[in-house]
Formats: sequence, structure tokens, C-alpha cells
Amino acid sequence: MDQLKQALRERTATVSIVGLGYVGLPLALRIAACGFTVSGLDKDPGKINELREARSPLLEISDQDIAGAVDSGRFTPTCDTAVLSKADVVVICVPTPLRDGSPDMRYIEGAATAVSENLRPGQLVILESTTYPGTTEDFLRDILETSGLKAGADFYLGFSPERIDPGNPEFHLDNVPKIVGGFDPVSGELMEDFYGTFVAKVVRVSSARAAEMSKLLENTYRHVNIALANEMAILCNDLGIDVWEVIEAAATKPFGFQAFYPGPGWGGHCIPVDPAYLSWRVRQMGCTAKFVELARDFNETMPTYVFQRLSEALNDRDKSIRGSSILVLGVAYKPDVNDARETPAVEIIQKLQKAGANVRFHDPYVSSLYLKSGKMDSCELTDATLAAADLVLFHTSHTVYDAGWIAERSRLIFDTRNYFKGVPGPIITL
Ligand SMILES: NC(=O)c1ccc[n+]([C@@H]2O[C@H](COP(=O)([O-])OP(=O)(O)OC[C@H]3O[C@@H](n4cnc5c(N)ncnc54)[C@H](O)[C@@H]3O)[C@@H](O)[C@H]2O)c1
Repeated sequence: MDQLKQALRERTATVSIVGLGYVGLPLALRIAACGFTVSGLDKDPGKINELREARSPLLEISDQDIAGAVDSGRFTPTCDTAVLSKADVVVICVPTPLRDGSPDMRYIEGAATAVSENLRPGQLVILESTTYPGTTEDFLRDILETSGLKAGADFYLGFSPERIDPGNPEFHLDNVPKIVGGFDPVSGELMEDFYGTFVAKVVRVSSARAAEMSKLLENTYRHVNIALANEMAILCNDLGIDVWEVIEAAATKPFGFQAFYPGPGWGGHCIPVDPAYLSWRVRQMGCTAKFVELARDFNETMPTYVFQRLSEALNDRDKSIRGSSILVLGVAYKPDVNDARETPAVEIIQKLQKAGANVRFHDPYVSSLYLKSGKMDSCELTDATLAAADLVLFHTSHTVYDAGWIAERSRLIFDTRNYFKGVPGPIITL
């Protein structure tokens, strides 16, 4: 323990990040920039080649950032799991998607097996993938201990949730407090030392379970409040009230209210997925996470609701979905990212296509979408594409979109984000 503490203090410890995605890559670069030697392990050879050639897969990381880290010798992208045996600290950042509605643990299992095969006494192993409470202390520990080494006695173990918010220009890894929870007190202390070297504030909780649950609470809080905002949008529309005006007014209350906004559905790797990990775990105990389930029902209905509102909007103009040209602007699940995982745009486009619409999309950051009908590529955003559309569905509020320019050229806009607030034109809002 003392040896690792000293190596962390002097930044001579070596770190291995497993999984170089939205979470792992920024983490690896930050740790390398703080003076540690970092190996970035990913099983995708294409990604490793891209990184070796200093091509960034993420919008918020430039090619120069990658080149600088690789050239400094502090960051080495690799597919070779042998690097794990050389690391003093291993951080696992692999995906945790759903498979048939249940946690898909295959990625953590794969990463854990590789770590276990290379585990040596004195190493600190940290899980950052979002998952159900108990994963670190039960699922991960069981796999690591197949090495013959014991957690807490021979190696150190813990969980630290990732709070990265891709596309957010204000909050980054370094200025957001980092929660850590160790399998045992020594592991917790070492995690505090490790993260303390590269984030502004570390918040230590009593266990890995508590750290896992804190992440699920954060995401469930958003999940439930987004559902509430969506329900308000539907009710306000029925009542003939502008939901956006209502939220703006309520948000002037300086305490007890935090604004959440409705939208065409939910997307990304976190909000539609993580609360389901909690529901699944709770179901194992014969209980139901009632708020989580209710919120899921609401958020899942939004693409259908948007489809209905589009039908009504066209109907009011003596048009039907069948035969109409619809242009979707933005398909990423949130603004200013190139991430289209779980985006509600896919379901909306598929519904429109099934009903006979002629659909195109434009997204400055997402070049293609994979639909049931096949691959669809982003089209150019020109005067002609806008003029050709019977309806423009404004789906993702990328800040590069010029609302005034779009409104001047469009026949009808359905704005799911209140992006066209105050802009004159044929605009309907969610
Ligand atoms: N994306 C976010 O904004 C965000 C925020 C907070 C938490 N998280 C959580 O962090 C975790 C990672 O998410 P992400 O968005 O970075 O995923 P991602 O899909 O962008 O990246 C994961 C990477 O892991 C690699 N990988 C998978 N199995 C591997 C293995 N056995 N060995 C080596 N590499 C392997 C994949 O090739 C991929 O490059 C998830 O649990 C997610 O819920 C994500």
C-alpha cells in the first residue's frame, strides 16, 4: 500500500485504462496530462489505429490533443492486454448496455477476465462503467479472484462513477467532484489518493455499492424529471398552454425547483439504460422500482407522441404523412455531440417511413443512421433541401443551427426543443 501511495504521490505509478470511448479516452488523456504514464487498452483495432494516427473519435477532443499525448510518450493506445500486468492502477470503462431489457455484463466480464489474467499483488483495480449496486464487490471481484489473489488482501478494488457530460463546455473531468467507494477502507483511501492527483475534489463514500448507487440515483433523478417534463408538455398542449413558458416561469423560483425540459424522447448511453440496471437489480429481490418504471413508460411514448403531433400538423394543412417530404434536423441524442446511440430520431424516422413519408435528415456531426430500412446518410442543409420539405422536424438543438436562416426557408417547422423561440415563421412547438 505504501509503495503505491508513494508512486501516486510522485506520479511514477503506471495506469491502464480499459475501453477508450466517451469515458475512457478523456480520462486517459487527463491522467497522462497530469504526469502519469498511461496505456489505453481497447479491443477495437480500428480505434487503436485511429488513435495512433492521432485521429480523434470524439468532437470534444482534437487530433492535436491525441498527437500531443502520444508524442509525449505518456499515452500509448494498444490492443495488447499484456500492458495490464505492468499497470499499478487499472480503470475499467467498458460499455454496460441492455440486452433484452436486462444488464448486458459481457463487456465488464471480458475486461475483468483480461485484468484477472494479468493481475499481480498490489494493483488497484477500479470500475467506472455504470452498473447495478453490487457489481464491483460481487460480479467483478469473483472474476478477479479467479487469479488466486484476494481483494483487500492482495489487490485493491473499488468503484468510481463517471460524470462526464459530452458536449458540455463548462464541466469537465477536472472540475466535477469525483465519487469513490472502495471494497475495503484501504482501497477507498488509495482511490482518494489516485483521483486526488487529477480532479479538483474527491468525495469518498463508505463502499463500492454506495458509489454505484449514487450514480444510479443521479441518472434516475434525470430520468424521472425528464418524464415529468414530457408529461407536462402533453398536458399543456391539451390545455392550450405553452409548456416552455410555464417551465421558464417556474424556474424563476430560487429554491426547490430545477428546470427539466421535454423533448422528442430520450437517448444516449445513460438515461434510457442506467435506470433499467436499477430496476433489474430490484426485481431480483422481488420488488419493483415504481418511479423508474413509470418514467420509462412516459419517455418511451414520446416518439409516438411526436409522430401524432406531426400527423396533426400536416392534417391541419390538408396533407397526410403519406407522400409528405419530411426533413429531420439533428439526429444525435443531444446537442453538439456525434453520439446517436439510442436516439429517439431513429424511432420517429422509422414510424414516418412506415406511414409512407419521404424522410431525409441532416446532422453536422452524425454522417449516417442505421434504420430497419437500411443505412441513411445525412443530406446537405441547403436552401433547396429546406424548401423541398413539407415539414422540418427540429430534433436536436446543435448550436450551429441558425434558427432565423432555417425559419426563413421552411414551409413548416415542428420544434421539439423551443430553439426557434422568438423567431418569426411557421413554427409549431412540442
Ligand atoms: N458516454 C457517456 O456520456 C457516459 C457518462 C457516464 C458514464 N458512462 C458509462 O461509462 C461506460 C462506458 O461508456 P462509453 O460511453 O465510454 O462507451 P463507448 O462505447 O464509447 O466506449 C467503450 C469502449 O470500450 C471498448 N471495449 C469493450 N470491451 C472491451 C474490452 N474487453 N477490452 C478493451 N476494450 C473494450 C470498446 O471497443 C469501446 O471503444 C458505460 O458503462 C457508460 O454507461 C458513459
